[in-house]
Amino acid sequence: MAVGIFDSGLGGLTVLQAIAARLPDQPLVYLGDNAHAPYGVRTQDDIFDLTRAGVQRLWDCGCDLVVLACNTASAAALRRMQEAGVPQGKRVLGVFVPLIEALTEREWGDNSPPREVAVRHVALFATPATVASRAFQRELAFRAIGVDVEAQACGGVVDAIEDGDMILAGALVRGHVDALRRKLPNPQAAVLGCTHYPLLQDVFAQALGPDVTVYSQPALVAESLAYYLARHPEMAGTGGGITYLTTGDAGRVSDRATQFLRHPVEFIAA
Ligand code: DGL
Repeated sequence: MAVGIFDSGLGGLTVLQAIAARLPDQPLVYLGDNAHAPYGVRTQDDIFDLTRAGVQRLWDCGCDLVVLACNTASAAALRRMQEAGVPQGKRVLGVFVPLIEALTEREWGDNSPPREVAVRHVALFATPATVASRAFQRELAFRAIGVDVEAQACGGVVDAIEDGDMILAGALVRGHVDALRRKLPNPQAAVLGCTHYPLLQDVFAQALGPDVTVYSQPALVAESLAYYLARHPEMAGTGGGITYLTTGDAGRVSDRATQFLRHPVEFIAA
């Protein structure tokens, strides 16, 4: 059985790539809602409705397990979807928890009470909607105490990436790092809380300097999915293969994806 990977657009490809490398035998279906990207400037209700529709589309494709490879969708929709109840046999997972478990040095699935951790001052870079939701801080508070999170809403970065303008995206990232440093001069760790940002990880790392540990999601999410599938083998499949679906213009999205992944990628209309 294929696992579904959902994002507002191209950013989830960073997660998909890591999952495909970690689980080469697992069939995957990627759905980018490029027709409605970026999500990060939309209302929480709007993001919820779009995310629910995207997840339903992947469930209808036979993907019983769907990973929201999008922080904005995870922040606005994951808890709400899970609380409303997902259909029998279906599952949806997000991207926050693996990241926070790594940041707080927890084993996967460790549900012990929150405790003091080594890291104290954390910079969070994310979309305006993720920052406004405070979902990251909420999930962190379940696991750690005494961590000071300074969030920087990185307006414009996702739009520039979706447009393929990496020069503009890089300039915007440097501006957002400067803005963050004015609020938190010496972060110990920086969280790239948007799956588009690993495409600019070098720019973030260079702007932040060598003393800041940068946490990026793709490898962490891939590892936690491998762990999940080992515990739920009924959700896993064999034979590999990736299907790429988009709600946007398939030709344009294929060109951008090919540029980012550095190998030919062909999207088809969802
Ligand atoms: N990749 C999405 C995320 O992780 C981008 C959101 C957007 O479309 O603005 O938040």
